[in-house]
Amino acid sequence: MRRIVCVGGGPAGLFTAILARKALPDVEVTVFERNPYDATYGFGVVFSDETLGNIADADPVSFERIEAEFRYWSDLEIRKDGEVTRTTGHGFAAFPRLRLLQILTDRVRELGAEVRFSENVADPTSLDADLVVVADGVNSATRRALADRFVPHVVPGAARYAWFGTEHDFGIFTFLFERTPYGVVQAHCYPYAGGLSTFIIEMSEAAWQAAGLEPDRTFAPGETDPAAKAFAEKVFGDHLGGRELIGNNSQWIRFPEVSAERWWWDRYVIIGDAAHTAHFSIGSGTKLAMEDAIALVDALVSHDGDVASALPAYERDRRPQVESTQRAARTSQAWFESVDRYYDLPRKQFDFQLLTRSQRITLANLRIRDPQSTEDIVDDWRSRQELPAPRPDTPPMFHPYRLKGVTFPNRVGVSPMAQYCAVDGKPTDWHLVHLGSRAVGGAGLVMVEMTCVSPEGRITPGCPGLWNDEQQEAFRPIVEFVHRHTQAVLGMQLGHSGRKGGMRVPWEVGDDELVPVDGEWERLAPSPIPFRKGAPVPTPMTRRHMDEVRDQFAEAAARTATLGFDLLELHMAHGYLLSSFISPLTNQRDDDYGGRLVNRMRFPLEVVDAVREVWPQNLPLSVRISATDWAAGGTSGDDAVEIARMLADHGVDIIDVSTGQVVEHQQPRYGRLWQTPFSDRIRLETGLPTMTVGAVSSIDDVDTVVVAGRADLCLIARPHLVDPYWTLNAAIDVGYAGHPWPPQYLRGKPARRREQDPNQRLIDR
Ligand SMILES: Cc1cc2nc3c(=O)[nH]c(=O)nc-3n(C[C@H](O)[C@H](O)[C@H](O)COP(=O)(O)OP(=O)(O)OC[C@H]3O[C@@H](n4cnc5c(N)ncnc54)[C@H](O)[C@@H]3O)c2cc1C
Ligand SMILES: Cc1cc2nc3c(=O)[nH]c(=O)nc-3n(C[C@H](O)[C@H](O)[C@H](O)COP(=O)(O)O)c2cc1C
Repeated sequence: MRRIVCVGGGPAGLFTAILARKALPDVEVTVFERNPYDATYGFGVVFSDETLGNIADADPVSFERIEAEFRYWSDLEIRKDGEVTRTTGHGFAAFPRLRLLQILTDRVRELGAEVRFSENVADPTSLDADLVVVADGVNSATRRALADRFVPHVVPGAARYAWFGTEHDFGIFTFLFERTPYGVVQAHCYPYAGGLSTFIIEMSEAAWQAAGLEPDRTFAPGETDPAAKAFAEKVFGDHLGGRELIGNNSQWIRFPEVSAERWWWDRYVIIGDAAHTAHFSIGSGTKLAMEDAIALVDALVSHDGDVASALPAYERDRRPQVESTQRAARTSQAWFESVDRYYDLPRKQFDFQLLTRSQRITLANLRIRDPQSTEDIVDDWRSRQELPAPRPDTPPMFHPYRLKGVTFPNRVGVSPMAQYCAVDGKPTDWHLVHLGSRAVGGAGLVMVEMTCVSPEGRITPGCPGLWNDEQQEAFRPIVEFVHRHTQAVLGMQLGHSGRKGGMRVPWEVGDDELVPVDGEWERLAPSPIPFRKGAPVPTPMTRRHMDEVRDQFAEAAARTATLGFDLLELHMAHGYLLSSFISPLTNQRDDDYGGRLVNRMRFPLEVVDAVREVWPQNLPLSVRISATDWAAGGTSGDDAVEIARMLADHGVDIIDVSTGQVVEHQQPRYGRLWQTPFSDRIRLETGLPTMTVGAVSSIDDVDTVVVAGRADLCLIARPHLVDPYWTLNAAIDVGYAGHPWPPQYLRGKPARRREQDPNQRLIDR
C-alpha cells in the first residue's frame, strides 16, 4: 500500500491518520478537512474511563496531551421541578472538541502526515489513494454518493434537540427536567473546560410544536436559531447562574440514527459517524469514531496492508461492538424521547430509570459506584411492594409477588418451551422430569410449553394438547408433583398453531423448524397467507371455524382449571393463530374481523371472554403478545399498548411481552434484554403487570428490571434448558439464604459455594 486518504478531519479521520502513520510508516497519509484549522461545531465531548484506556493504549502520546487538559468528575445531579438528587461514582472526563481536534491534528503532522484544511472533497472517486477512509461525519456526502454500495439507513429521532455552550460551570454532569405548559423539557449539561459547559436542550416533537418553536426560515450552517436560544434560556434560566447560552450552529435537530448494511466497497471504508451514530445521551460518538480508527488500522496491519482482505475483516470484527453500542444508545434515546412516561413515577424510581435507561448500567454497577444511593433506591422500591420481604437483605429478585390469589415466591419464571415429545398430545415422563426439575430448581413460575386446543392446532405431532380426558390425566402427575414438592406457581400456556401448524419435529429436519408434515393437516388462519413462500396455504376461517376454536380454548381452559394450575396464559404471539388475527400483515380480512385494530382484536377477545368465564376469577389470566412484528406496516409498540388495554378490559391480568416471529421478513434487533423496553412501555403506560422475556440472563438483570419497574416477573427460557436450578444457583451466588430450599438438596449448597471459594465448609445449612 502506497497512500491512504482520509475524507474528513474529525476524530475518526485524524486518529486513523495517526495510527496508520505509526503502524505503517512507509505509507503516505493525507487528511482532507473542509473547515479551517480552528473551526468546529459543538463544544465539549465526554469520554468514559473505558474509552480513555483504549486511546491510551493506541497512542500514549495523544492520550497524554489530551489528559493534561481533561476535566474529570464523578458526580451526577438530577434536577427535576426544583428537587435535586445527586449520585456519585460515574467516572467521566470531558474536553473541548476544538482542542481534541487541534491536538490530534498536531500529532498527525508530527508523524509526517498531511492535513489539508479548507479542502472539500467533492468527488472521492477522483482521489489518488489505495485506501479511502470515509470519515466525513453524520451527513457524509460520500456515503450518499455510494449509497448503492453501503446501503445506508438514516432514521430521524422522535425528539428535537439543540446544542449550546454556556459560561455557567455546571461542575458535574447535570440533567435538568422542567414541566412547561407545552410538555416536559430537559437539558443535558456537562462541564468541559474552565468555566464552560455543554448544554443540550431536548423535548418531544409534540412539546416543540406546542411551544411554537418551528422556525419560519432555514438557517445557514454555523448560524444559531435565536428563538431556540431564547426558549432554552427562559425555561432553564434559573439553572444558568445568570449566564447566557452560547450558540454555535445551534439549531433544532432530530437526532439521525445512521447505520449502513455494508461498511466497505472496493478501496472505500466508512467509519465514525459516517457509518453509524449513537445518541448523544450515552456520550459515545467520539469513542466509536476513535475505536473504529484503532480497529481499522489493526486490520490493515494484520493483513499486511492488503486492503482487499483487511476491510472485510475490519467490518466483521468491529460490527458487533458498534451494534451493541448503538442498541444501548437507541434505548437511551427512546427513554429521553418518552420521558413523559416516567415523569410521574416516584422520584427514586425515576432516578433509577434514568440511570439505567440504556440497560447497560445495572443495579450491581450502581451499587459499586454509589452504594448508599443505590440502597436507598432499593429500600424505596421495597417499601412500595405489596408483600413484605422475607428478610431485610432479600435481593429484589427474591422478593415475592402477588397477583390475584397467587403468590410467586420470586420474580423468575421458566418461559414456555416446546419439547416436541408428547405422544398423541399427552405429556410424558419427559415432561414430568423437565417441568418438575425446573420447579425444584427454584423458579417462582414454571410455564408449560404451548399446549394445543385441538389436534390441528398443534405445531408438530409432538406438541401436547388438552382436548381430551387422556391428555388431562397425563398432566395430573406434573401438577401434583410441582404442588407437593415445590413453591413454584405452575402456569399453562394454551395456543393454536394456525398457519404454522402441522410441521415436523425440529430435530428431525435440522435447523429449519418449519418443514410441513406429509399428508393432510388443516391449517386455519384469518387470511390465506402462508408463513413463507411455498409453505402450505392456510384455510381462511369462517364464523363456524371461529366458534369451534373459541369453544376449544374454553374447554382446554376448563380442563386447566380442573387440573389445579395456578395461572393460565393464552398464546397470542409468534404468528400462531390468535397472533395472526392481531397483525395487519397476516390478517387481511375485509369483514368485522379484519381492518382496524379493534376489528383484528375481535376474535382474540372472544376467546378471552370464553376462557375468562371458565377460568377462576381469583387466578391470574395472562396473554403472551408479540409487541412488535419488527416489520414495516406490522404491529408496533404503539399498537401493543392498545392491545394490552383491550385485553385488560376483557379480564386479562398480566401481559407476557414477547415480540416478532409473525412474518418471515422480520428484522428483529437482538441483544441483552432486547424485548424489555416493550414491557416497560406497556407496564408504565397501562398500569398492567407485565412479564418480560428475551435474553434476561443474570440475577443483576432481574434485579434491575424489577426495581426500575420494567416488568413484575422475568421469564428466562434457554438458560433454563441447561440449568434447571438457575434460581437456586442464583441464591447461592449472591449469598442469599432466605430462599426456600429442597431439604434433599441442602448439602449441595456448600458444594456449589466451594466451586467459587475452596475454603468453604463442607456442611452448612
Ligand atoms: C449534541 C451532540 C452531543 C454530542 N456529545 C458527544 C459527547 O459528549 N461525547 C462523544 O464522544 N460524542 C459526542 N457526540 C458525537 C460526536 O460529536 C461524533 O460522534 C463524533 O464527532 C464523530 O466523529 P467523526 O470523525 O466520525 O465525525 P465528525 O466529528 O463529524 O467529523 C467529520 C469531519 O468531516 C468533515 N467533512 C465533511 N464532509 C467533508 C468533505 N466532503 N470534505 C472534507 N471534509 C469533510 C467535517 O467538516 C468534519 O470535520 C455528540 C454529538 C451531538 C450531535
Ligand atoms: C426450545 C424452545 C421452545 C420454545 N417454545 C415456546 C412455546 O412453546 N411458547 C412460547 O410462547 N414461546 C416458546 N419459546 C420462546 C421462549 O419462551 C422465549 O420467549 C425465548 O426463547 C426468549 O427467551 P430467552 O432469550 O430467555 O431464551 C421457545 C423457545 C425455545 C428456545
